[in-house]
Order: sequence, then C-alpha cells, then structure tokens
Amino acid sequence: MLRPSALMLDFGGVSCISYSMRIFVIGGAGYIGSHVTRGLLDAGHQVCVYDNMSSGAKENIFPETRFIHGDILDYTTLLEAMREGWDAVVYLAALKAVGESMLYPEKYSVNNINGTVYILNAMCAAGVKYICFSSSAAVYGQPVRTPIDEEHPLNPENFYGFTKLEIERFLAWYERLKGLRYASLRYFNAAGYDTAGRVRGLERNPANLLPVIMETAAGIRPRLQIFGADYPTRDGTCIRDYIHVSDLAQAHLLALNFIREKDESLTVNLGSETGLSVREIVEASRRITGKPIPEEITARRPGDPAALTASAAKAKRLLGWKARYSDADTLISSTWNVYNL
Ligand code: UD1
Repeated sequence: MLRPSALMLDFGGVSCISYSMRIFVIGGAGYIGSHVTRGLLDAGHQVCVYDNMSSGAKENIFPETRFIHGDILDYTTLLEAMREGWDAVVYLAALKAVGESMLYPEKYSVNNINGTVYILNAMCAAGVKYICFSSSAAVYGQPVRTPIDEEHPLNPENFYGFTKLEIERFLAWYERLKGLRYASLRYFNAAGYDTAGRVRGLERNPANLLPVIMETAAGIRPRLQIFGADYPTRDGTCIRDYIHVSDLAQAHLLALNFIREKDESLTVNLGSETGLSVREIVEASRRITGKPIPEEITARRPGDPAALTASAAKAKRLLGWKARYSDADTLISSTWNVYNL
C-alpha cells in the first residue's frame, strides 16, 4: 500500500519521488544488508530485518528497525513474519564464498536455492508482490568481452554463481505464473563502508580482497596473499570492478521504486565501470592506512578471471543510478575507518 507521505529524494542530481514503504529485509544484519537497510531508513521507509545471524552482526541492527531472528529455511516463522503486511521484500540472505561453494555445493543448494523457494512461496501466500534480489556478476562466468553488459552470455564458473542464476530463473517463472515483480541486481565486487561511519559490524572470517587487506593492516593477519601476479593485465594482478555498498544501497531504492511504479521486472548490473588491480588496491591501502601490509605472491586461485568490469549503462538509463562513492580512496578509507580501532 502506498503511503500518502511522498518524499523527494536526491540521488546525486537525479531527483525522484519515493513513497514511504514497509519493507521486509531478509539478511538485513549482514554487510551489504545493513547498508541497504541504512539507505532505506534514510529515505523514510519502515524496515523489518529478518536474519538468522549466521554472518550478520548485532551492531548492524539499527534501533529504528524491527528485528526478527529467523532463518529462511524455517518456513513457519518466515510465513508468519511475511503475513504482517509488507509492500516489498529485499532478499540478501545467501552464502557467498565462491571457494566454499565448490567444496560444499550441498550447503549452497539448501541455503540459496531451497531458501529462495521458501521466500517466494511465503510471498505468494502472504500476497507480497515485489522483491529486490541480490544477484551477482558471478552469473556471467569467464568474460567473453568486457565491459560486461546484461546481454553477455550466462555461464557461471562456480557453484555460487550457478545458485544466483538459478534464483533469477525462479524469479522469472514466479513472475509469469504468480504475477510477482522483481528487480535482480547483479552486483560486481561490493566493497567499502558507510562514509558517515554508521555501520560498524565486521565480517567474520572474510575472504574478499578489501577486508583481507584491512585485517592485514590491522595486524589480525600476518600477510596478504596475492593470488597470482602473472595475469595478462597491466601489472600482472587481477582487475575487478569494485562498487561501494552505499552505491548499491541507492540502487535498491531506485529499483524498488521502478518495479512498483512501472509494474515491471528488471535485471541490471551494478558496477563502477572502473577496473582496479589487486596491486593498485594494495598500494592505495598502504598509502591510506600508513601500514606496511606485508604480501606474498601465491598461485592463481582457480576460477579467477583476469579482468572483470561492468557496463552499468542499463542501470543509468532505467534507474538514473550512478556510482558516487566507488573511487579507490573512498572504498579504502571508509573501510579502514571501521578496522582501525
Ligand atoms: C566473487 C564473485 C562475485 C561475488 C563475490 C562475493 C566471481 C567471478 N566473482 O568475486 O560475483 O559477488 O565473490 O564474495 O565469482 N584476492 C587476493 N587475495 C585475497 C582475496 C582476493 O589476491 O586474499 C584477489 C582475487 O584473486 C581477485 C580479487 O582479489 O582477483 C577479488 O577477489 P574477491 O574479493 O574474492 O572477489 P571475486 O572473486 O572477484
């Protein structure tokens, strides 16, 4: 139900009207989920976070939100929560470690695939029509061309990416059969922290590059392993498209408005359209933190493409979205701000 209080929002020069919504954020205590929740609250929406706290952090739950400690695999609790009357679901709860997904596909099937089926069925049973889903650039696999646009072939290289692509297919079928409307947001490499320092929860046992560098700078790890320096790139290390989580959060707001106003679904890439190498990130991190950040070059990590960059033209065209915080300095300094205690 649309609330009468329309808010004028300004997304970096693109103004739009947003209606206050009641939003059910599944996985809202996690790293990306807490930033998305922060963005939704800042825009005047009411938020309920549903999270099993397997990787979420208590300090990521803002006092303004309602919190339900629940698992997506617990259908009874999920359905009961879903029946409270939500305008939309934001679905971020997933296992996301690429390496682990290759070792334990059973775990990823149950959590990511079965969990999706429960969420979609609970939405249908409770009459919730709109969902914003965290997909991934991992659905594309090894790039046959860059920058990668949404028409690029879908050929995931790892089981994690496979689960994300299967979920997109479920969404398309539930749209056809049940009238659901979805936004599938294909994130490239999410990084950074809220620049105002309002999100402070650290990821436990991180595997992604920037938190690993920060743990090394903070002395939690002895050294960073650079997975290969013999790639055909400008300095031999892999190039990725790092996108700030607050930019991702803004895209969720715009995507929810889009699918509700147009009553149509949407699949878009979210990236900065800028490639940064592992070495460039490490050197910028040394400069910003003032720490030595010891490193060793190790073998390539299986399945790592040499270079991945996004075309975000579709998100710009349809949503008026543009990355504002995704330069290397903002990504690194906002992250160091929470690791430098
Ligand atoms: C992968 C997925 C991405 C997903 C993300 C979630 C692919 C192609 N990409 O990103 O879609 O959203 O995981 O976790 O499947 N690196 C090191 N040392 C480290 C850690 C990383 O050198 O200790 C290097 C990696 O080799 C890579 C880069 O840093 O070149 C980024 O790695 P990572 O942060 O793990 O993300 P991706 O694997 O690119």
